[in-house]
This record gives sequence, C-alpha cells and structure tokens, in this order.
Amino acid sequence: QRHLISAADLTRDDAVLILDTAEEMARVADRPIKKLPTLRGRTVVNLFFEDSTRTRISFEAAEKRLSADVINFTAKGSSVSKGESLKDTAQTLEAMGVDAVVIRHGASGAPYRLATSGWIDAAVINAGDGTHQHPTQALLDAFTMRRRLVGRDAGIGQDLAGKRITIVGDILHSRVARSNVDLLHTLGAEVTLVAPPTLVPVGVETWPCEISYDLDSTLSKSDAVMMLRVQRERMNAAFFPTEREYSRRYGLDGERMAKMPEHAIVMHPGPMVRGMEITAEVADSERCTVVEQVANGVSIRMAVLYLLLGGNEPAVTHTRTEEK
Ligand code: CP
Repeated sequence: QRHLISAADLTRDDAVLILDTAEEMARVADRPIKKLPTLRGRTVVNLFFEDSTRTRISFEAAEKRLSADVINFTAKGSSVSKGESLKDTAQTLEAMGVDAVVIRHGASGAPYRLATSGWIDAAVINAGDGTHQHPTQALLDAFTMRRRLVGRDAGIGQDLAGKRITIVGDILHSRVARSNVDLLHTLGAEVTLVAPPTLVPVGVETWPCEISYDLDSTLSKSDAVMMLRVQRERMNAAFFPTEREYSRRYGLDGERMAKMPEHAIVMHPGPMVRGMEITAEVADSERCTVVEQVANGVSIRMAVLYLLLGGNEPAVTHTRTEEK
C-alpha cells in the first residue's frame, strides 16, 4: 500500500509529478462541471483529531470532485472522548471498508504508526501531525510558488531550482516549516528560516537551509516570504512572545513588504493572526497568495488522492464522458 506521510519521502520526480497532476486537476476546477468519476466506489475517511478549517474542507472537496464516498470523523463528539485508542478507532473505520484515511493528529508520528502498524490496509495521507509534517501543505505551497515564480504553463515539468524562499516565525512548532524545508530543498530552492532564537528547534543546523535572526536583511533577497503563526496552543503561557515586540521584529507590514523585489510574493498557510505576524495591509495586498493557496490545496489533494488510489486510470480523460 502507498502512503503520503512526509514531504521528505518524496523524490524530485515524485514531487514534480504531483505538481503537474495538480495542474491537470486545476483545469477540471475551471470547467462548469467540476467532477471526475476517478474514485467512484472508493471510500475515503477524513480522521481529524485536531481542529482544521482549510485542510479538512479542501480534502473533502477534493474527494467529492473525484466522486469518492466520503466519511468525516472528528474526535470531538466521537468515542475518542470516552478513551478509545487510535488503533481501535482506525480498525472500526476499516471494518466499514475504507480505501484511504486522511489523518490529522496532535501527536507527531501518528500517521506513520497508522500506516506501518498493520492495523489497517488503507492508504494513509498525513494531514498534519503534531510539530512533525504537513506534506500536502508543502505541496500546495510549492504549486503556488511554481505558478507565480515560474508560470502556470511554463512550470509544467519544472522544479523551483534557484528560487529563494524565506520562512518566518514560529519554526519550533511548525510542521509547515519542516515540510516546506524538505520539499523546497528537494525541488532545488534555497530556503532561509527567520525566527526569534526561542522559536528555533534544537538541531536546526542539520536541516538543508540557512538560519537568520534578522528579517530585514533577508527580504530584498527573497522570491517568496512565508509568514507563520505563533502557535500559542503548543506553548507554555510563560513563553508567549508579546504581540508588540514580536510584530516589531518579525511581523510583515507594508514598510517591510516594500523591501521585497517587485515580483516577490507573500505566503501564509493560515490561519493568520492579523496584527501579529502579518498586518491587514499585507494580508489583503495583491502580493499575498493566502486565498490562492487554499484554492490550490484542492487541486493538490485531488492529485495526491488520484495518484495514491486512482491506479492506472488517466487523470482527466474521463471528463468529457462525465460532462455528457
Ligand atoms: N494550513 C492549515 O493546515 O490550516 P488548517 O489548520 O485550517 O487546516
């Protein structure tokens, strides 16, 4: 069985294939009838033990556009609150005949455990585990960068070689940062992390990227600047940075954005905290791709589901039949 657990597991060719397949899926989304029959008769369960808006809804949209049967499970309101384990929850779902499990979990390693334990036969897709990985977020970010920095058509078959990407904020708690560093490195980009020293993980010097503590000096050398939320829910209250001090040193406002090259974009995985890591002026500017990232997430998740479950079916050639 094939799974998607970590962006680090993808080769350059795997990643480019997913990005190219997502471009095909995006063309489907541009059509009046947005559905493909590719996963008809297959069942996908969205197993969310942690809160989510974008990832949960976009996986559901992707599954429905591929005609899969969709089961949504959230830990709140389930028997998890009565103490049921991940193993028993997963086996309960497996007994209902599930082909793929999309899992978000607060514990780093939960999707890996599910994929390798032998508890279930289904394909496992990691939708974010603890501070570890969020591979479909990194893929949708790379898709957005490739479209904006290389071009929608010119980008087909291409990677992000030589592009300079700056990721700013709470690196310590960020699965988005880890996944992006892994994938962007595989795609040939040069990544710089910018964070307060207290929000840099131990061992970061072994990651394939540069580290800086000075946002202002990196902006003029960036093709994309990705802002991250400070994840207070994963911190001891005693370590919360004050909003004013944090935004003064690490927040992106209009004055700082003006230091970026004209072609450079501002990214954010969401949810944003306006006034903390990003001002409303920047979040609402033409250069900010946050909404585009969400739309691209549906195409990326369609591509991942299609490549894991779709077998040898061509990606979009059924569409004409479907439209009749
Ligand atoms: N970017 C992201 O994972 O957002 P959600 O937590 O809303 O899914």
